[in-house]
Amino acid sequence: MRLTDCHNFHDFRKMAQRRLPGPIFNYIDGAADDEVTYRRNTASFERCDLVPNVLRGVEDVDLSANVMGQKLALPVYCSPTALQRLFHHRGERAVAAAAGKFGTLFGVSSLGTVSLEEARGLCGGGPQCYQFYFHKDRGLNRAMLERARAAGIEVMMLTVDSITGGNRERDKRTGFSIPFKLTLAGMLQFARKPAWGIDYVTHEAFKLPQLDEHVDMGGGAMSISRYFTEMLDPSMNWDDVAEMVKLWSGRFCLKGIMSVADAKRAADIGCSGIVLSNHGGRQLDGSRSAFDQLAEIVDAVGDRIDVLMDGGVQRGTHVLKALSLGAKAVGLGRYYLFPLAAAGQAGVERALELMRIEIERGMKLMGCTSIDQLSRANLRFR
Ligand code: LAC
Repeated sequence: MRLTDCHNFHDFRKMAQRRLPGPIFNYIDGAADDEVTYRRNTASFERCDLVPNVLRGVEDVDLSANVMGQKLALPVYCSPTALQRLFHHRGERAVAAAAGKFGTLFGVSSLGTVSLEEARGLCGGGPQCYQFYFHKDRGLNRAMLERARAAGIEVMMLTVDSITGGNRERDKRTGFSIPFKLTLAGMLQFARKPAWGIDYVTHEAFKLPQLDEHVDMGGGAMSISRYFTEMLDPSMNWDDVAEMVKLWSGRFCLKGIMSVADAKRAADIGCSGIVLSNHGGRQLDGSRSAFDQLAEIVDAVGDRIDVLMDGGVQRGTHVLKALSLGAKAVGLGRYYLFPLAAAGQAGVERALELMRIEIERGMKLMGCTSIDQLSRANLRFR
C-alpha cells in the first residue's frame, strides 16, 4: 500500500495498521471501556444533513478562520497528541512542519517527544499552542508556563478531562506503556513488524522533553492511565485554573469542556477559548459527542469566547457542519496521526491537503465563499 493509495481517513488508518506494531496501533486507535463514545463521535455527524444553496458565484473560496487571536489558513488544526515519536521517528517534527506549511495551528503536548522550543522552530511561523496537564507538583506547572512563555507560544491549552486515567482496555491487553513493558502477546506483535523496529532503534532515543527534567516516570513502566492517575492533581479546581489564567495573562484555552455551566465558568475566569472534547472517546465512555453538544454551548458562550471542538472528524463535510453550528475551528487527532504513522511528514501533508480540498469543495457545493457564510440555516437534524 502506497501513500497515493490513501484517499481518506480509513485508507490512512489501514496503512498505519500495516506499519505499526499492534500495541502502538491500538494505543492510537483505541478508546475507553466499550468505545461507545469513540464510535458516536463520528456517527453524530451523520445525524445532521447539509442543505446547500446554489448559484452564488463560488470561484474564490476563503478558508481562513480566526481563532483566539490567531489567523489560520484553514478552519482545522492539529490537536496536541502524545508520544508521536512512537508512531514515526520524526514524530512532532513532521506534524509541526506539515501544519506550518498549511498555515494552521499545531498543538504540542506535555507528553510530546520533541521539545516545544524545537517544534516552534519547525512550525514555519504558524501559530502554536502548548497543551499541558495540571500536575501534583505545582512548581512544575509554573515552570511549564514560564517555559512556554519564553518560547513565544501563542495559546496555552489546559486539558481538563483527564483528572484520572480512562479505562483503555486495548492497552491493558497489550501492556502498552513507556518504556515498553509488553505482555507476551504484545511482544509477538512487535516481532511481526520488524521494519518499524529497525526504524525505531536506528533513530534518536525516545524522550519526553517537556517532562524529563521534572517527572520521574518511576524508573519502571508508566502507562498513560498511571501517568494521569499518579502524576496529575485530582484536586484541581476552578480556583487553581483561574490562578493559572491570571499567571499566563495571554490566550488561555480549556480543552475537554462539555457542559454549559463549565463553559460559562471558563468565560468568567478569563479564558479566550474552550475546546469541546471527550478526548477522542479515550476518557469517559458514554460521554456525549462534542458535535451533539456544540449548539447549546455556542448559544451560551459563543459571544464571549471562541468555541472549538474535536472528536471523530474524518471529512471536510464534518468540519462544515461544526462550523455551521458556530465552532470557530475544528481539531484533528487520529486524522493526522494515522498518516504520520503511515508516512511521516508526507503522510500528514497529504491528509491535510485532502482535508483542505474537501472543505473547499464542500464550501463551493454549499454556495459559500467564506466560513462566516455557513450557518444553522443550512443544517437539518434527523
Ligand atoms: C491519551 C493522552 C495522553 O489520550 O492524551 O493517550
